[in-house]
Amino acid sequence: MKIWIAVLLAAFAAGASAQGCSCDTMKWATCDGNPCSCYLFVGENVKQTLNCTALIPKCILMKAEMYRAKTGQSTRGFGGKPVETAFVDNDGIYDPECENDGKFKAKQCNNTEECWCVNSAGVRRTDKGDKNLKCEKLVETYWVRLQLTHKPTSGDVNPSNLKAAIADAIHKRYKNFNKDMVEDVQYDPEARMIVVDVKKPKGERKSDLTHMAYYMEKDVKVLPLFTPQDKFEPVVGGQKLEMDNILVYYVDEEPPTFTMKNLSGGIIAVIVVVVLAVVAGLLVLFFARRRQNQQYNKAQQREMEAM
Ligand SMILES: *[C@@H]1O[C@H](CO)[C@@H](O)[C@H](O)[C@H]1NC(C)=O
Ligand SMILES: *[C@@H]1O[C@H](CO)[C@@H](O)[C@H](O)[C@H]1NC(C)=O
Repeated sequence: MKIWIAVLLAAFAAGASAQGCSCDTMKWATCDGNPCSCYLFVGENVKQTLNCTALIPKCILMKAEMYRAKTGQSTRGFGGKPVETAFVDNDGIYDPECENDGKFKAKQCNNTEECWCVNSAGVRRTDKGDKNLKCEKLVETYWVRLQLTHKPTSGDVNPSNLKAAIADAIHKRYKNFNKDMVEDVQYDPEARMIVVDVKKPKGERKSDLTHMAYYMEKDVKVLPLFTPQDKFEPVVGGQKLEMDNILVYYVDEEPPTFTMKNLSGGIIAVIVVVVLAVVAGLLVLFFARRRQNQQYNKAQQREMEAM
């Protein structure tokens, strides 16, 4: 039973002042009552009550996003490799099935006959299969790499301040996100690229990296999901860094199980180059041999003529 989706708001809140009653972490929420209570439509007549003091789980956000797209409402503001096993979200949004607590169900089908298994970020980590596909459990994403680029700045960015500044900005903006999980920040001034590795210990189930990553993706790529529409702009040495783009890599506690046909363009390119190099090598060898043979034949001919 999906109890969580059938929540009807208390009707006795009539007349209560709605002043200051809004949802900080979800701009599309409808709020009313005293005490203030907020909800979001995630389907036809299906309301999801929200805890607006925390980031809203990504699964619920994606459901609401699909519903808004279907009903022709604006989805603006809702809508992109640290290790070999990291992967990005190539599929984009779908209509997910969520658990009561807002977690993704391990198996997702997007209301079709085609199903796949996802990680705790709701990103596909297996090949697509049919309805009988088995997904044993939801595999946890314990490491996300946020690959950000920022807009040009007037002065230089001091890399030594960067880690503390980024960790601070993340902590403040994303509802007290644990700074200690911002493990590493690298900076490439030429590319204006900031690579932020956010990691938690394997097996830890109290915190979630993927909600923060999703809010940041929306902050950078579209518009903030927060009710206040101020931008994500970490201040480094007195200088605001306005972000241009973001790419999120996911590293799960277990490696994904994609097969060849899902190889990324990069790997395919490498394979093509290697194959071409081998073919070129063989051709060179072949022609070299032929020339040698021709020379040998000519030499033989001359010998014959001399005789
Ligand atoms: C809402 O989220 C906050 C922050 O994570 C938490 O402390 C609180 O218990 C939550 N409230 C409910 C009703 O779940
Ligand atoms: C899910 O279905 C919708 C249409 O119902 C489609 O636009 C979207 O691309 C699908 N997403 C995936 C990941 O299959």
